[in-house]
Formats: sequence, structure tokens, C-alpha cells
Amino acid sequence: MVGKTILVLGAGPGIGRAVATLFASKRYNNIVLIARNAERLAAVQKAVKGTNSGVTVKTYAVDTTNTVALFEALDNSDATFGKPEVVFYNAARVLPSSFLDHPVEDIEYDLKINVSALYVVAQRYMPHLVSLAKTADPASSQPALIVTSSALPHHPIPQLFALSLVKAAQLNLVQSLSLTYTPEGVHVGVINVAGQVSPEDELRNPTNIAQKTWEWFEAAWEKPSFEVKI
Ligand SMILES: NC(=O)c1ccc[n+]([C@@H]2O[C@H](COP(=O)([O-])OP(=O)(O)OC[C@H]3O[C@@H](n4cnc5c(N)ncnc54)[C@H](OP(=O)(O)O)[C@@H]3O)[C@@H](O)[C@H]2O)c1
Repeated sequence: MVGKTILVLGAGPGIGRAVATLFASKRYNNIVLIARNAERLAAVQKAVKGTNSGVTVKTYAVDTTNTVALFEALDNSDATFGKPEVVFYNAARVLPSSFLDHPVEDIEYDLKINVSALYVVAQRYMPHLVSLAKTADPASSQPALIVTSSALPHHPIPQLFALSLVKAAQLNLVQSLSLTYTPEGVHVGVINVAGQVSPEDELRNPTNIAQKTWEWFEAAWEKPSFEVKI
């Protein structure tokens, strides 16, 4: 299928849905949504389609930490749409964790979601994104890897210590990827959502976060910058 594809890993009802919906309205006619819960995913699919009649939305209910299942899903979406121009990694569990009763297994799972799975996704798609940057008309193509981050890497919250530490590791990984691949023409950067997301918040509501993300992404066409802080 021809067209432009965005892959959203962590397509939940908040930032995931808002970014998928806005990017679909602006530029992408093929949308791939990944999250674990099939029911919630179907609701996100409906919302994205609802406001964008010309787009095709495919969903895969898989856990990004299950590399075999994830790659089966991505093999299927790549065969249908071609590989994505934009990879948006948004999967995370925003859950409390407190000292010292939080199980170590939960820290390890969060690390897999935020770091290991992001790494295998980068392994899978970065060569394609680099080749897109080298071969495509720069005016018509903007290969990108975008990751949702937060203030936690720099300002850990003890009641969220597990998420704080894995987000710190994730940011470090994305910085290294950016240092390596932004000079190759791939826009690698983070959306730094520096506070709690809420539909009621004037600044940090999903719709505004998506809007600021789009403006930053579009500006990066001319001059890539590592982060947009919202
Ligand atoms: N919410 C906040 O207050 C806040 C604040 C600052 C930064 N952030 C960052 O924003 C991002 C998330 O945005 P959001 O909070 O608005 O959530 P969201 O976009 O509504 O949803 C993210 C989705 O990720 C999915 N997910 C989690 N673990 C997964 C896994 N292992 N495999 C596949 N999908 C998985 C979850 O769906 P399933 O359960 O169906 O898998 C969840 O609904 C995260 O990077 C988070 O750190 C959030």
C-alpha cells in the first residue's frame, strides 16, 4: 500500500491516541497502533479513524517486551504498509512504586518496556530510517524516532522511583541514538512532558501535547532539535 506510515507503540487513550490522531490528520494515511489491551486499542483505533476518514488504521494487541510477538506484528504491518517513516515510542506504565515493597520484577519489567523494547525497535527500524534519509527527497520525507519522556530522569519522585529510574535510562539511550543518527538525517528526539497529563490541564492535556509535538516535528524538517518540553 502506498502512503506514509506512522507506527505508535503504546497507543493508549492519552498521548498515544492524541498524537496518532493529529499526525493522521496532518500527514500519515497509514497508522499502526500497538498496545496490550485489545479493547482499549479498538477504542483508540475508532477515535483515530473517526476524525480522519482517509486513513487506514491497523492494530496489534501485543506487549512490546515480547519481541517475538512484536516482530510478528511488525512483519505484518510492514508487509501491509511498508516500513514506517515515523516511529513513536510511547509505551510505559505510569504506576506508583514505593520503597521497599515494590517487587524487583516490576522494575525489570518497566526497564524492558522503556529500554529493551525501544532498543529492539531501534535495531529493527533505524537502518530503514537512515536509508530513507539518504535516498528520499528531503522535502518530502522526514524519518524520525520520537520517544515520550518526562521530568523524572532529572527530578526523580521516590513514590515513582521505578518509573523515574527507567525513564532516566531511556533518556540516556535516546540521547546516544540522537548523537549517532540525527547527523545521519534521522530526527531522534523526545517529548518531555514535564508534569502529570490530564485532560483538564491547560498545558499538559493530550490534545495540546500532540499539537506541540507536531509543531516541534514540523520545525525539525528545517532544524532538528532533541526535545520539546511541555
Ligand atoms: N500520564 C502522565 O501523567 C505522564 C506524564 C509525563 C510523561 N508521561 C509519559 O507519557 C507516555 C505515556 O503517555 P500517557 O500517559 O498519555 O499514556 P497513553 O498514551 O494513554 O498510553 C500509553 C499506553 O502504553 C501501553 N503500554 C504500556 N506498556 C506496554 C507494553 N509493554 N506493550 C505495549 N503497550 C504498552 C498501555 O496500554 P496497554 O495497557 O493496553 O498495553 C498504555 O495505555 C509515557 O512515556 C509516560 O512516561 C506520562
